[in-house]
This record gives sequence, C-alpha cells and structure tokens, in this order.
Amino acid sequence: MKRTVIVILILMVGLQIAAAQSPAREHAERLGRGMNLSFLENWWNGTKAKNYTDFVKPDEAAKREKEFADIAAAGFKTVRIPICFGAWASLDKPYRWTNEDGLKTADVFIKRALESGLNVIVDLHHTEFDGQTAGAASTERLVWLWRELAARYKDTDPEKVLFELRNEPHDIAAEEWRAQAAELIKTVRAIAPKHTLVVGFHDWNSRKALIESAPFADGNIIYTFHYYDPFLFTHQGATWAGEGLADVRDVPFPWTKKVKIEVPASAKGKWVEGLIRDYEADSQSDKMFADLKAAKDWSEKYKAPIFLGEFGSYSRYGALADRCRHAAVVYAALGKLKIPNAWWEWNDGFNMFEKGTTRIAGCMRQAIDGFGR
Ligand code: BGC
Repeated sequence: MKRTVIVILILMVGLQIAAAQSPAREHAERLGRGMNLSFLENWWNGTKAKNYTDFVKPDEAAKREKEFADIAAAGFKTVRIPICFGAWASLDKPYRWTNEDGLKTADVFIKRALESGLNVIVDLHHTEFDGQTAGAASTERLVWLWRELAARYKDTDPEKVLFELRNEPHDIAAEEWRAQAAELIKTVRAIAPKHTLVVGFHDWNSRKALIESAPFADGNIIYTFHYYDPFLFTHQGATWAGEGLADVRDVPFPWTKKVKIEVPASAKGKWVEGLIRDYEADSQSDKMFADLKAAKDWSEKYKAPIFLGEFGSYSRYGALADRCRHAAVVYAALGKLKIPNAWWEWNDGFNMFEKGTTRIAGCMRQAIDGFGR
C-alpha cells in the first residue's frame, strides 16, 4: 500500500515536471482546429497621408464583435487575430501610439474571443505594410511594439492567449530574421514570462524555411508555418500574389486531363507559368501529405510543437466543389499528423461559406470534420 502511494506520488511529480517543461506542447494540442479572422490587419483601407493609421472604421469593427461567437459555434477552438498594430504607432522615434482607438478595438476583439471560449493568437501582422513603408519593420520599432503589447496583454490568461511575433517575414535573410526574432523573444519574456509565443521563419513563414531552421532556446514556443499549396489552385484570381495569377482561372482540384489550364498572356515566362506546368504533380494528395509530414518530422526531431497558421483557398474563381476537395485533403492530413491549424479565413475572400450566405457549405463541413475533434 505504502509503496503504491509512493509510486503514485512520484508519477504525479513526474507528470507535473513534464507539463511544466512543455506548456507550448500542451497549448499546441489545445489549439486544435482554428480560424483566422481577417479585418484588423487590412491596413490598405486607411489613408496613405495618415500612414494608414485610420484603417479601422469603428462602425464596421462594432459589427464584427459577434463574429467570435459565430466562429466558436462553428466548432473552431482557436481564433488567430491578425492585427496591424504597426499602423497605430509612429514611424519615427521616439515611437508612440498615434491611434489609441485602433488599440482599443484590438482589446475588445481579444476580450470577445475569450468570452466565446476560444484560444486567441494575437498576431502582429503586416508590420512592413507589404514593403510600402520603409523602416516600419526595423528591429528597434518591433521591439518597441512588443514591449508595449506584452505590457498591455501580460495579464491575459497565458493558458488561452498566445503571442505571434511577426507574420510572414519576407525580403529578410534567414539570419537577419533569426536575430530580430531573438530580440523580440527576449523583449516579451521580460514582461510576460508565461505566455506561449508563436514564431515562424523567414520566406513568408514557409514550410521550407521551417524545415531549414532550428528552434530557439526558449522552451515555450510553438513554431508556425503557412501552407497554400498548390499555390496555383489556392490563389487563382489573386491580384496580390504573383504576376499573371489574377488572370488564372478554372483550375480544378486535383488536376485532371479533361481541363486544360490556359497560360494567360500576363503569365507567359513568369513564375506562374511554371506553376501551371507543375500543377499535375503539385496537386496530388500524396505529395501534399508528404509536404505536411516533413513539417511534422521536423517537429518530432526537435521535440518542438508546430501550428499551421494559414491555409485555405480563394473563392474568386475557385469552384466550391474543388475548394472542398482541396480542404478535405489538407484537413485529413492535418488530422492524421495531429497538426493544429487555422484556416484562412472566416468571412472574406477565402471563406468556407455557401455562396451568398454566411453558412459553412456542407462539403466544407465534411472537410473540416476530416480533421477530427
Ligand atoms: C495575407 C492576406 C492574404 C492571405 C492569402 C495573408 O497572410 O495577410 O492579405 O489574403 O495571406 O494570400
């Protein structure tokens, strides 16, 4: 009897130590199926002369507050909120907030998400204004931003709120990003020691960049990557993602020889033409599974939890049946590999709705369920 009690005690202490060692792993497991709510990062809706600081319209923001409950009701466990905090701060030193209302909207969104029972990823998005504003994403400025944000949100529940340091760093060398990320980690840690951080790598948080990189020393990090493959399918019709892509349409998923994908004149000789050439191979579900498995292998090798922070497909030309087949392949792979995730996005161009409604389409529902609970 005595011996049993001792064994149980040892086991309990052991389990506690294991949990204490890896809050990131525990939190990653809890993220499950998630959703991105695109809105607070739409800096392009602001006025250039005002450095886009006015991009959030209060009426529109107020209407959005109820969307967190809708996301939770649709069965998602986590919401990733992309926020262009950088648009609300001065570009020159000494840095200061120039639009407190934007910040207050972010506070309300985080609160509503928590009230809806969701885990919340506070994601610093578009820090560089997609390259439109020089110096906006300097290490000094981002350190200032994170010092402010960590102080602002340090009292939120670290079991529910996670901080994502910078969405899709690009046009920045791997080592340069690593050095910047290390500074940001240090900054947040000094103020919010318990919050799990979400960190991705250079090259737009690509899967390849993740695989080529090593984790940071901080043990409480979930590593994120984005997966929009096959890009030709997920971004057909997109005006922002590659020359010629806006004119690509009628791409089926998966590839079929019955449909001939035309190379638009605007894509001739460009990267997009190569995507069309490779599409048959790139749209095979085995290839996609192998891609995601390689990310999982990285996670296992380093004992570092991962999170697929963005995946999805654009609805402009993508037909719903094809988009559902694509979603089903990705969700099934994520379920099998146990990779928590967040679909891009709730109710803008990449939404899962039946056309003209705000109801998740039946075939999308089935795809989501392929992930499991
Ligand atoms: C960008 C969005 C874009 C999406 C898909 C996100 O990271 O912030 O503007 O719609 O990726 O390309």
